[in-house]
Amino acid sequence: MLIELNRESPLPLYAQIVTQMREMIRRGVLKAGDRLPANRELAKKLGVNRNTITAAYEELTAEGIIRSHVGQGTFVNDVPILGAIREERVATFPMSWNAVLTDQSRESSFSNFMNIQSQKDTISLSHGLPQSELFPLEDFRLSLNRAFRKEGQTLLQLGLSGGYQPLQKHLAAQMALLGIQVTPDEVLITNGCQQSLDLISRILVRPGDEVVIENPTFPGAISVFCGANSKFLSVPVNQRGIDLDVLEDILTQRRPKLIYTVPTFQNPTGTAMDIGARRQLIELAARHRVPIIEDDIYRELRYDGADVLPLKALDKYGLVIYISSFSKVGFPGLRVGWMVAPRPLIEHLNALKQRSDVHASMLSQAAIYEFARQGLLNKHVRRAKKIYAERRDVMLEALEKYFPAEAEWNKPEGGMTIWIRLPESLNASQILLEAAKQGVIFSPGERFYASQPQCHLMRLSFTMTDAAQIELAVKRLGAIIKTQLSRWKTHRGILIAEGRRALM
Ligand SMILES: Cc1ncc(COP(=O)(O)O)c(C=O)c1O
Repeated sequence: MLIELNRESPLPLYAQIVTQMREMIRRGVLKAGDRLPANRELAKKLGVNRNTITAAYEELTAEGIIRSHVGQGTFVNDVPILGAIREERVATFPMSWNAVLTDQSRESSFSNFMNIQSQKDTISLSHGLPQSELFPLEDFRLSLNRAFRKEGQTLLQLGLSGGYQPLQKHLAAQMALLGIQVTPDEVLITNGCQQSLDLISRILVRPGDEVVIENPTFPGAISVFCGANSKFLSVPVNQRGIDLDVLEDILTQRRPKLIYTVPTFQNPTGTAMDIGARRQLIELAARHRVPIIEDDIYRELRYDGADVLPLKALDKYGLVIYISSFSKVGFPGLRVGWMVAPRPLIEHLNALKQRSDVHASMLSQAAIYEFARQGLLNKHVRRAKKIYAERRDVMLEALEKYFPAEAEWNKPEGGMTIWIRLPESLNASQILLEAAKQGVIFSPGERFYASQPQCHLMRLSFTMTDAAQIELAVKRLGAIIKTQLSRWKTHRGILIAEGRRALM
């Protein structure tokens, strides 16, 4: 197949391929049923990127001229394509966005997990989110109304990029209660922790820079720090949080740009660092002059044990950037979070926030401020915590009752999830497939790993489902896991027996 590309032509390369292939089909050089070369092969032959061939094939497929079968290849269709309409299409070429997407967008793997809508009767242990049914809608509506009545005109007007000032002031006072002394203008309001991470990475991390992340960790952080052009160094998490020995080894050999950690109820392991480990981490980072991002989003959701000071409160060196949000204790859909950064950074972050989206919604900020100011947030958190603690205990009991003796898990003192280690012969994604058929979903552990994914781990959330459903879901999961385990044992038994026979 002869295709000639003119790199000087204003017509994009993929469009030239489409035009010439269409012409070959019209002249009968390519006939109905003929197989077209595979993307990789044609790309190599023409000296173009594979995406260019993909875009060309997508265009011809959209026109009905060719069709692709997974695993078999791409074939010419049996269609009359020579009419005037086709010719018209050549002239008014539709834009192929695939051909112009950057590598970053192509490789971004952070799926919109709310798209994974479970079926109506499915019990979801999948998302670490507050349960919508617990939202105090009436209280929040009153707060929203009050805020709007008080200063609706201001709230609908453009605001300051640092945030709604009463909220900044309120958060500075809250921070002081945690031992973090800041002025309100050192608190930057963002659209949640996810945006805080994005802003921080954009001012501190250049392409090629290395960033330390915990492994496993929050997938949203993986999407920010482990994208197409990023390098990352992953550090395992043990019972005391980020493994400080491994971290020390890394810091003595490399010069990472920052360390991202969730010291309190780490997602997904649920681990909380003790005060000693926190102090060690600060000293280590200070010795190597590496900033830390402390993601403290789960702090308020503590059910047992004593509070431990945030890293930021222990930081005498000014190296910790603190981030949190109202997503776990309040309402994730409001998209209101904040960060407290050392003064030299906050101005850059402010400027970047302005460049990105000017500021977080004034109405959301004012409403959550009003809700908090009136003590309604605390009231809601107290109620939710009580319910979540009961659900956690129900889940722990059900795990004891229904899971096989070979499985292990922690008892998290807070947070929203339990992290479970199954025997290595099992694969949590396969268990999920079977579980989904039986109306239960959860998060397989591998989605929390940026490197060396562990497939025999699973994360169960206890916040979004009531106690009876939790018991039922764990019972079903336990039965699936036991069946898969016994199948594996039988299979292994046969293999061993066969091995022995072969040796005899
Ligand atoms: C550790 C951690 N940080 C941040 C987030 C997301 O926070 P936000 O909704 O404020 O962007 C999550 C959500 O699961 C999380 O687990």
